[in-house]
Amino acid sequence: MKNINETLEKLRVRYQSRALDFDDCDVIPEKQFSLWLEEAISSECDEPNAFTLSTVEGDQPRGRVVLLKGIKDDGFAFYTNYDSDKGSELSKNPKASMTFLWLPLHRQVRIEGVIVKTSAQDSDEYFQKRPRGSQLGAISSPQSLVVKSRQDLEEMFEKATKEFTPDQSLPRPAQWGGYALNPTYFEFWQGRDNRMHDRIAYERTDSGWKIYRLAP
Ligand SMILES: Cc1cc2nc3c(=O)[nH]c(=O)nc-3n(C[C@H](O)[C@H](O)[C@H](O)COP(=O)(O)O)c2cc1C
Repeated sequence: MKNINETLEKLRVRYQSRALDFDDCDVIPEKQFSLWLEEAISSECDEPNAFTLSTVEGDQPRGRVVLLKGIKDDGFAFYTNYDSDKGSELSKNPKASMTFLWLPLHRQVRIEGVIVKTSAQDSDEYFQKRPRGSQLGAISSPQSLVVKSRQDLEEMFEKATKEFTPDQSLPRPAQWGGYALNPTYFEFWQGRDNRMHDRIAYERTDSGWKIYRLAP
């Protein structure tokens, strides 16, 4: 433990590559986000559409990584199991936040808002675009439930595989589908030297987006 703590204390990266000021920011935060996401996609970021989804269970915040799959009319969309822990948390409290981290660019984006389920049609359409193996995974895995062993999980997958002929298209299970976050707050963070980072925030108000700078 001593060694790892000493190593952690010494870990230090200098962020000097870029800056962020009001002039660099689109007045529409969704457009600013798309710009940064495109830059992350064309840079060396692994899984640039991965983000930490934070929800709350009672007074306990909970986070896990999921993948952004679209920016749609009803918001920032991702797909999951509605019966999972996150699904259960969102059914009780639809407020959530998304945190994107693009380390090679020294950038972070936080988005907060309220989550709704996407339409059944949207979920069907996206389910049909997924690889067959992922579809079978979604059909067979009771996400977030305790399972006895890896073997039990494999057997569930095998059972689902045998229920359909190889040429049969697979129906979306009712418990699997999309969620979309309708944003009320964005923060764009650009790492700078001496930990004097740039933070530009957008807050939704009745008269439009209010934009301000935060101290790092
Ligand atoms: C890079 C990455 C991408 C992931 N993408 C998804 C996703 O799009 N949907 C999903 O349900 N889980 C995804 N997961 C798994 C989740 O992190 C999590 O384990 C799962 O959704 C169960 O979370 P819950 O028990 O809090 O509901 C991903 C994990 C990683 C590491």
